[in-house]
Amino acid sequence: MQRVIASGKFTMGENVLRFEQQFAEKFGVRHALMVSSGSAANLVGVAALSFLKDRPLRSGDEAIVPAISWATTYYPLQQYGLKLRFVDVDLPTLNLDVRMLERALTPRTRMVVAVSILGNPAALDVLRQFCDRHDLILFEDNCESMGATLNGKQCGTFGDIGTFSSFFSHHISTMEGGVLATDNTELYHTARALRAHGWTRDLPSDTKIYDKRDDDFFEAYRFILPGYNARPLELSGAVGVEQLKKLDRMVAIRRENAVLFTSLFKNDERFIIQQENGQSSWFAFTIILNPAMKIDRKKVLAALKEADIGYRIITGGNFLRHDVVKYFDYDCVGEMRNADIAHDRGFFVGNHPRDLKPQIERLHEVLRKAAG
Ligand SMILES: Cc1ncc(COP(=O)(O)O)c(C=O)c1O
Repeated sequence: MQRVIASGKFTMGENVLRFEQQFAEKFGVRHALMVSSGSAANLVGVAALSFLKDRPLRSGDEAIVPAISWATTYYPLQQYGLKLRFVDVDLPTLNLDVRMLERALTPRTRMVVAVSILGNPAALDVLRQFCDRHDLILFEDNCESMGATLNGKQCGTFGDIGTFSSFFSHHISTMEGGVLATDNTELYHTARALRAHGWTRDLPSDTKIYDKRDDDFFEAYRFILPGYNARPLELSGAVGVEQLKKLDRMVAIRRENAVLFTSLFKNDERFIIQQENGQSSWFAFTIILNPAMKIDRKKVLAALKEADIGYRIITGGNFLRHDVVKYFDYDCVGEMRNADIAHDRGFFVGNHPRDLKPQIERLHEVLRKAAG
């Protein structure tokens, strides 16, 4: 950061570009685009799909979405006029229940939004096959699961677009920041233009998304798409380059913490903990109080508070229970029973890339007593 400050160049430039190149290489994707947040990556991603030359997303098209995710997974879909078809989550993994996919499909379905919750890979292989079979776009919001893998493949690279967050508490931190990853060059160029005012200046000369004219004066400020300013700072790019080098090690430490957490909680029928699908990058530790038993969550949370252990709702709980949903065009594919259980009976405590074994032992002790 000191080097960037000394250079006097603060806005998107060579450090951001270096981060993007190294990110693309690390995750094995053709293109990576850094933006100002994971939310901005989702917004620019959905916008880019809406400005594709061939079969863009259109208002009234349907997207299949899980009932649990972060609010800004859904907002761009609403903002671009999509209708959402909510599908319940699977209770053990907390990810979209893929057994419901066929029921969720209609002639208007254009896209499936895959979210790997809190580090745990969704059934991305099944979702990819489903999308291929039905000619659908797979949009992968991987903002909670950088570093997770399924069948040896990085989460965030199964989708036609994958998005990542490097917000302060995530697997790498650039303070604020996000990345959009894709192998599709048209999508990438469209997203590049959308990231910065919808202008052409950041596009390579051989791009196919517009025809360059022989007028430098006009070309310097030529606008082709109704875009945003979602540019990251050079400071974030420079920090990202260093953070990326540490990602594997930091994820390995998170996984070591998870080994202890799992061993302490997995055989206790009072607690339902997240069951790993593939290799989780363990953003956090989820605990759902077994709905078949009468354990008072208020009492459990009070004990955590008393012990000065932080906790919160699992991602956002059941999104359908938030006021904002009134602005959405949506329907539900069956009941959201498991999302409600997670909402009403669950919570998570954070993980961190540091040895947390004593803290996890203490968490276990506090919960063991509080749950009676
Ligand atoms: C699933 C999911 N998508 C998107 C985001 C947004 O990321 P950001 O906070 O970088 O905007 C988050 C944030 O935690 C998230 O959990």
